[in-house]
Amino acid sequence: METVLTRDEAIARPERAARRKIEARVKSIRPLAEDVSAFEFVSADGSALPPFIAGSHIDVHLPGGMIRQYSLCNPSTERHHYVVAVLRDAAGRGGSIAMHDALHAGQIVTISAPRNHFQLSADAAQHVFIAGGIGITPIMAMIDEVQRRGEAFHLFYCARTPQRTAFLDVLQPLIDAGDASVHFDGGDPRNGLDLSRTLAQCAPGTHLYYCGPSGLMDAIETASAHWPDGTRHCERFSAAGTRVNTPEDHAARRPDTPFEVELRRSQRTFTVQPGESIVDVLRGHGVEVDTSCCEGYCGTCMTRYLEGEPLHRDTVLDAEDREEFVMICCARSKSPTLVLDI
Ligand code: FES
Repeated sequence: METVLTRDEAIARPERAARRKIEARVKSIRPLAEDVSAFEFVSADGSALPPFIAGSHIDVHLPGGMIRQYSLCNPSTERHHYVVAVLRDAAGRGGSIAMHDALHAGQIVTISAPRNHFQLSADAAQHVFIAGGIGITPIMAMIDEVQRRGEAFHLFYCARTPQRTAFLDVLQPLIDAGDASVHFDGGDPRNGLDLSRTLAQCAPGTHLYYCGPSGLMDAIETASAHWPDGTRHCERFSAAGTRVNTPEDHAARRPDTPFEVELRRSQRTFTVQPGESIVDVLRGHGVEVDTSCCEGYCGTCMTRYLEGEPLHRDTVLDAEDREEFVMICCARSKSPTLVLDI
């Protein structure tokens, strides 16, 4: 039976789930394209996995203590497995190399329950997706969802060469039907999709979703800056650039000042000095906190706050989420005290 999460559940469940770890078995690893493989996880004890909504990602705990986030690309109606597609990035931080070189079928690994910071709009008239390379992974699940809803969409898929492009075979029917177009640039973005022209017009009710390398993400953000608030959605798997576009961006980059962090449930209060993060201070006092990227883009450290005004510095939470949650690896506080639900 299909499990549908409400928006509140989707936010609340992943927050609780963020600390929920699952023993999983690597059921299969299969090549999708040059340097890209699909990894299929099932629960180690054979039970159904927690439900997820399209756009979700999981943490994978890798040998050597690394934790990395990978988007689920399989349909969100499936409960028997999670599938992620990973590009082996020789110039990366080592997570994708460990996935490709250290994991094998049958291996038991720890993963997290899915979290979602990249949701489909429930009331869009149509959806525009832009995927860059391996950024196609969450979008595969999202396209499956909009197809099931019977909603209008178009996918622009930007890649280097056909050999390095995952899911081309799966997407071919959409390409043939005019619902998807693939843009190969041969490694030179100047030969790729003309973003300014593609994003110049924004028909009423259109929502934009994008995921890919940070250069492409920044270019899309700039080319769609005139789109209405709340119509642009993205998932970053590296820290954002240092562009400063809005008053909030300027505020986020103000020099650090000290503030108090109060843990309401455990009734403890600590001072966070300039140069320290909330996570640093909590760990320094023996409080256990889960983190992964420590740069505000993975969502692992998402925490509910009860009072105070955070100075958000993440690239995960949207305006609505920021009224309730804060990423404590990078956020500071505008108010003298920030009260956390810990
Ligand atoms: S640890 Fe990644 S957002 Fe905080």
